[in-house]
Formats: sequence, C-alpha cells, structure tokens
Amino acid sequence: MNVYLDAGHDVSFGTFPLRGDTLASAMRLAAEIGYRSFDTAQMYGNEREVGACLASLGLPREELLITTKVSPNNFASEDFLPSVEQSLRDLQLDQVDVLLLHWPDQHGQNAVALEQLQKAHDLGYAVNIGLSNYTIAMMEDAMARLSVRPVANQVEFHPFLNTEKLLAGAQRLGLPLTAYCAVARGKMATSALLDDIGRPHGKSGTQVGLRWTLQKGVAINAMSTKAENIRLNFELQGFQLDDDEMRRIDGLMAEDFRIVNSDLVPSAPDWD
Ligand SMILES: NC(=O)c1ccc[n+]([C@@H]2O[C@H](COP(=O)([O-])OP(=O)(O)OC[C@H]3O[C@@H](n4cnc5c(N)ncnc54)[C@H](OP(=O)(O)O)[C@@H]3O)[C@@H](O)[C@H]2O)c1
Repeated sequence: MNVYLDAGHDVSFGTFPLRGDTLASAMRLAAEIGYRSFDTAQMYGNEREVGACLASLGLPREELLITTKVSPNNFASEDFLPSVEQSLRDLQLDQVDVLLLHWPDQHGQNAVALEQLQKAHDLGYAVNIGLSNYTIAMMEDAMARLSVRPVANQVEFHPFLNTEKLLAGAQRLGLPLTAYCAVARGKMATSALLDDIGRPHGKSGTQVGLRWTLQKGVAINAMSTKAENIRLNFELQGFQLDDDEMRRIDGLMAEDFRIVNSDLVPSAPDWD
C-alpha cells in the first residue's frame, strides 16, 4: 500500500524553504491547480504559516493529505510528543496524515525516536508514520521496532542520483520511497536527453524526469514558486514512458549527483 499513490496524491507540494507571502501564494496556486497533499516539517519553521494557509483555503479535510516531520532536536523522550502537539496546534489539525522522523539521529538514538513515533501514532496524532533519509539497514531496524508498518521513507530521488540499491531494498521490505528534490532543484530542465524524450510526448524534460520517478513507484514531493512550474510538475498523467525510454533515463543515474549531501547536512548517514 502506498498512502500517496493509492489516494491519487502522485505529487505533493513541498513547502521548504518557503515563508510569508511567497509560501501563501505558492500554496494557493498549488491548491487551485489541484494539489491536495502538502509537505512541511518542524525544521522548516513554517508549520504555523502552512496551517493558516490551509485554514484559509477552506478545503474539506478529507481531501487533504498533510505530512510533517519531527526534527532530531525533538527526539528525546521528554520533547518528542510535546513537539508533535505543537505541530498540530500550528497546523490547526487534530492529526496529521503522515508523521516522519526527518533525519536519523546523529547520536544513534533512533530507537528512542521510533518508540516516540509509535506513541504519536497510538495517541492518534498521526494516521500514518514513516521515516526520512533512512538507509536500508536503518529501514530494517525501524520496521523491526515499530508495531505499525511505516508508510514512507522520504529520500532524495531523481534521475541524476543512483538510488537503485535503496529502491530495491525498500521494495524488498515493502516500504515505499517518496521523492524529495524530485525536480533536482531545476536541473531536470537542463537535460537534453530528458527534453528529447519529452518532445514526441509533448512534455517538458522535467515532466519526463518526474514521470520516470512515478513509474518507479515513487510518489513525488516538489516545490515551486512559479505558477507555470507548479502546474507542469502536477501534469504527469496521460503519457507513459516505454521500457527503452526508462532505460535511457536510468543511464543518467551514473552522475550520482546528490543535492542534500553530507556537506549540507553533516549528520547525514553514510549512504553507501
Ligand atoms: N526530507 C528531507 O530531508 C527533505 C529535504 C529536502 C526537501 N524536502 C521536501 O521536498 C520538497 C521538494 O524539494 P526541494 O524543494 O528541495 O527541491 P525541488 O523540488 O527539486 O526543487 C525546487 C526548485 O526547483 C525549481 N523548480 C521547480 N519546478 C521546476 C520546473 N518545472 N522547472 C524548472 N525549475 C523548477 C524551483 O524554482 P521556481 O520556484 O523558480 O520554480 C525551486 O528552486 C521541499 O520543499 C521539502 O518539502 C525534504
């Protein structure tokens, strides 16, 4: 089961690093275009603004799928649940649809965080729980500790990064990946190969790269502040990449270009 894809939320609207008027106008545009899945995090410092924006949109709660993430700063057992309660107040929600651990704990305290995540689920603060930036070994450990099945491991995923091993490991465990940096921060728009493949389909290179991700069974999380890009990133239905096109795009993974790397996040796990 994939809570995003099965409910038709192929593309979620990412809200990092948006704040203020830019956030409000981008979320409004996204909602007008049809996005109903929104992704935020304690670390982004924008949950209160996301909550205010969701309230002002007035969309039926049952149409929405809201994901937030607990910051490792709040993993200690005395901090975890109060931080989730604060997130719910900020988001103006009784429960989120998906609650993730944002990063593995740099001090090796993942067991404590997982225990607290389970409690947040059992208290009804989150319908579903999951992980982010977890390696295969960490996913295995998490699944052994949790008594409910995690629904997602949100990781960097796009055609320029080699995620073959991670995806195979996640599939073996039955834990869906979801993609962040899904448009590779604009890099997909610069690929001649993606453009060439898109032309006969009447699609842009970025749309082709996003379609490749969807056809890998991975739901997308993408952010844009521009109406045109918000719309293009959402319009991924009505065309299909064939096996040959998928294989040619697979070839781009050889670049192994990681955006959110250990220079950016010193506590990032050893991905290999
Ligand atoms: N779990 C984690 O650790 C983690 C880490 C990073 C991100 N995330 C989540 O994932 C979301 C998406 O990741 P991201 O924002 O880092 O990267 P992204 O979505 O790959 O890239 C966003 C950037 O790409 C540009 N862009 C978007 N659509 C485009 C298009 N069709 N053509 C050309 N350029 C385009 C945007 O600029 P314009 O505004 O000019 O369109 C923006 O600068 C975040 O907002 C956040 O919610 C999670």
